Amino acid sequence: MNRTRTNIQIPRETIDEIRHRSDIVEVISECGIPLRPAGRDYKALCPFHDEKTPSFTVSVAKQIFYCFGCQTGGNVISFVQKHEAKSFIETLTWLADRLNISLPNQNARESANRKRFTSLEELNRFAAQYYHRHLLTEDSGGQARRYLQHRGVQPKTLKLFQLGYAKSTRRNLVKAATDEGWTIQQLVDAGLIKNEERGPQDRFWNRLLFPIQNERGVPVGFGGRALSEEQQPKYLNSPETILYNKSNILYNLDKARQAIYKKRTALLVEGYMDALMLYQCGVENVVASSGTSLSENHATLLKRFTPEVIIVYDGDTAGFQAAQRGLHRLLAAGLRVRIALLPNGEDPDSFARQHGAEAFTKLTDKAINLVEFQIQTAIQQQNIHRVDVKTQIVKEISATLTHIQDRMERSEYVKYAAKELHVNTDMLWHELRDLGLKEAPAPYRTRANKASPKKLSPRAQIEAQLIEALIQNPTLIPYIKSQFHYADLTEPHFAKMAQLLWEANPENDGPDIQSLLNECTDEKLRALISNALLRKTPPNLKARVDGCLRKLQHFIFKDMEQRVRSHALAEGADELETLKELVKLSDQRRALGAQPIHEPGAYE
Ligand code: GTP
Ligand code: MN
Repeated sequence: MNRTRTNIQIPRETIDEIRHRSDIVEVISECGIPLRPAGRDYKALCPFHDEKTPSFTVSVAKQIFYCFGCQTGGNVISFVQKHEAKSFIETLTWLADRLNISLPNQNARESANRKRFTSLEELNRFAAQYYHRHLLTEDSGGQARRYLQHRGVQPKTLKLFQLGYAKSTRRNLVKAATDEGWTIQQLVDAGLIKNEERGPQDRFWNRLLFPIQNERGVPVGFGGRALSEEQQPKYLNSPETILYNKSNILYNLDKARQAIYKKRTALLVEGYMDALMLYQCGVENVVASSGTSLSENHATLLKRFTPEVIIVYDGDTAGFQAAQRGLHRLLAAGLRVRIALLPNGEDPDSFARQHGAEAFTKLTDKAINLVEFQIQTAIQQQNIHRVDVKTQIVKEISATLTHIQDRMERSEYVKYAAKELHVNTDMLWHELRDLGLKEAPAPYRTRANKASPKKLSPRAQIEAQLIEALIQNPTLIPYIKSQFHYADLTEPHFAKMAQLLWEANPENDGPDIQSLLNECTDEKLRALISNALLRKTPPNLKARVDGCLRKLQHFIFKDMEQRVRSHALAEGADELETLKELVKLSDQRRALGAQPIHEPGAYE
């Protein structure tokens, strides 16, 4: 669904309200980052660069984040914008939705759409609870309860996954929901009922129901399992609706996301039951594709939480070829892909039930890389010595290799494949180029790995201290503005920052730094602000600012003396005038009193 808005002006007060009411710790956690308390702040592994020890810091008091590793920072709005790859307006809409704030400038149709959207979420919640209650309490739910017990689903799992039961008559939900005030149209829109000739009928009857939740835990659809062999189809799923876009939803992602993030790997299985049973026995980083093929959206969604996906295939899955496109999508999103194969006739659910979680984990630990997997299956299943077979295999493997994003990894696998297939590496590289491979650096190896704060000159260090002090206490800005021009700062981004501070309104109390963070489009400046806000504020900021000012003026006068001197040398100017000018300048400089002291500050 496209809910992007264009040409919308959101009033400053609304932006402020959204910012004030969106707690940065809550929002960042909801985005799947497991924050741990560290003193008064929170810490986590930075989602914007690869790291082993957490340098991503979130301050509750200041409502900002900053990564000391890759120097990314900002407030709640800039976080969502960057992490979820949204525009400013999309971000505000997203945060506003979360808070149930309606954006004032929406036109009537959009606000009607939004109402429709939130009410369908409500309706799905109602339906999930309704079916869940029936599973727990209705006499007729007995068969479903026994079925679950027989399959080893524990009561706590049944509740956690909010499993439900749809009774065998056809108008239960229609009646219950309309009694509660929902309309037939809403029920149809949610995919819960079908409008047939004989009147509205429930979509699900006599089935065990798995509510399908989006990554925020809101039910958006259902998967309904037959309770006997005779009942067909085995699974009946909700249709796509405005809430349920199958290419965006992975079953169990809401519960698995934290574990996926922590373990840095996601297990991808096929069935609802597989995900649920693995979760029950402690393998929590598991999501299910529920029979749909993997889309680009699924891949990007997973990439937000993990660098690696392990696909756990049923031993007898015939659809491996068909799944290839999905696998390539995972690789193209920059994910590492490994494959774990189960013994013939087993699926993750049956395997874990029979052999236990430990055996299952052993199996996934041993999962081999997609390329190895492809080569090994090809070698085992076909006569690789036949030229036509070999040509075909080389083509398939090459297609996979082009999708590997990491250069090093790709090059390693080219070597491996060449050796296993008895072809030479040049020939494989040729093949890859024919398939359109352009040598490009991997997208996830960003500047962050290289970024080391560069050493600043003594003057720039003082500029840094001044800017930091002003960000920490913006009320000093009107005072300093009258005696110092921002263009006198030599480090370009400090000068830019100063300009922003100088030009921001209001006049008397100095600018509102948090609003500045919103308006500032320059990432480097946002990082500068967040960093300054996170540092300890020294006790007497005014004295510090005065100190910096004096030292800077000292530099400025020295600069001027230098200019006057070189001017005199170059042009053969009036010597007396030059001399007078120099005496004046050096008097002024001495009047400042202090010699510039090289203070080894925080910026080295
Ligand atoms: P159990 O038999 O309950 O263990 O299910 P399973 O998950 O092992 O089933 P299977 O491996 O056959 O299917 C995997 C997934 O594909 C299921 O979880 C469903 O999401 C989907 N699926 C299976 N059968 C059907 C079907 O008949 N219709 C539809 N639409 N989807 C199905
Ligand atoms: Mn199964």
